[in-house]
Amino acid sequence: MQRPTLGAIWAQSTDGIIGDGVGMPWHLPEDLQHFKQITSGHPVIMGRRTWESLPIKPLPGRKNIVISSREAGSWSQGASVVADIPDLSADAWIIGGAQVYAATLDEVDVIERTLIDVHPDVPVSNAVYAPRIDDDFTLVEETGWLESSTSLRYKFQRFERA
Ligand SMILES: NC(=O)c1ccc[n+]([C@@H]2O[C@H](COP(=O)([O-])OP(=O)(O)OC[C@H]3O[C@@H](n4cnc5c(N)ncnc54)[C@H](OP(=O)(O)O)[C@@H]3O)[C@@H](O)[C@H]2O)c1
Repeated sequence: MQRPTLGAIWAQSTDGIIGDGVGMPWHLPEDLQHFKQITSGHPVIMGRRTWESLPIKPLPGRKNIVISSREAGSWSQGASVVADIPDLSADAWIIGGAQVYAATLDEVDVIERTLIDVHPDVPVSNAVYAPRIDDDFTLVEETGWLESSTSLRYKFQRFERA
């Protein structure tokens, strides 16, 4: 039987920023579509701050698992709250943020990264950064630079554990 795949997915600026602590400092509808396509039908695992950043929650068509030291409550309606990193041996996508990527990347088989040619104007104290992808991963697929309806340039990349 094929081993379940654990993936991580994120979008980052070319200088490594994934967020400003509240949300993502760009508007890239093509990336939201890509995210939906990749993660639909699979459980998604996220930190509490990423959950709070979602404009629509829970993410439909996916089991939403939120890691938090807080008790589940009205704030977490529609999600399953877990007090620590859950069992990662099942098929799932890690969807952020930085704290959760850092804690799980060693277990991940696949990374779907969107690279955005933008330099967001985020105060250093608020900037949240993508994890470093080390030599354990190989770039296996990459689009060329694409142009968004919002005029941003972006590309999709897929890395797999070597
Ligand atoms: N560009 C992208 O693709 C992307 C994707 C996701 C997120 N983001 C951005 O990233 C930012 C949020 O990331 P973040 O790193 O600040 O926060 P985060 O990882 O989303 O959430 C951190 C919280 O998760 C809980 N947590 C994490 N690890 C835990 C553990 N081992 N045990 C118990 N609880 C744990 C804690 O919640 P409690 O404090 O409740 O205990 C912690 O405060 C936002 O700006 C968001 O927009 C960007």
